[in-house]
Amino acid sequence: MDSPVLAAIYHRRSIRTFTAEAVDRELLHEIVKAGIWAPSGLNNQPWRFVIVTDPALRGKLAQETRYSHIVVAAPALIAVYLDRNAMYDEVKDHQAAGACIENMLLAAEALGLGAVWLGQILKNKENVRLLLELPEGLELMAVIAIGHPDRRDQRSNRKPLDHFIIKEL
Ligand SMILES: Cc1cc2nc3c(=O)[nH]c(=O)nc-3n(C[C@H](O)[C@H](O)[C@H](O)COP(=O)(O)O)c2cc1C
Repeated sequence: MDSPVLAAIYHRRSIRTFTAEAVDRELLHEIVKAGIWAPSGLNNQPWRFVIVTDPALRGKLAQETRYSHIVVAAPALIAVYLDRNAMYDEVKDHQAAGACIENMLLAAEALGLGAVWLGQILKNKENVRLLLELPEGLELMAVIAIGHPDRRDQRSNRKPLDHFIIKEL
């Protein structure tokens, strides 16, 4: 099947090493734009973003995760938040955040960039909020590390379809 959307879905890999080249601000904004075009319950759009390119701040954020090498190496980070004041349903708003993050990863792939969804840093989400000088009421969903990939030979795998399809009626 010849579809650019399916190609992005299947070709996207988590990219954890990057060249030193900066990522253009317009590309970062395009990635955020793809995120905000994700579906959300009642179209409430509960997501908020912090874009970080400052190396000193990246260094501080790196100390909040065991994946510090990725955070330091990535020229850009986008922290994805849910705004508690914009939320209406705990489960559905978290599902929307996941859709938003996946849209952003696919956009990075489509733009020729590499990205990885960092979740382990949520362990220290309160420290991250303070480092980013954000008010309470914003809940960290993920940090996306973004850059120009230094290689493109990453492999991943999935179990076969019949592992996941419980039944077809
Ligand atoms: C909720 C979530 C949290 C993740 N957290 C991390 C993380 O902290 N560090 C990391 O290197 N990768 C993280 N990943 C990326 C996964 O390891 C990766 O998606 C998985 O191994 C499949 O590889 P692929 O993305 O290349 O297909 C996370 C992915 C998700 C969806």
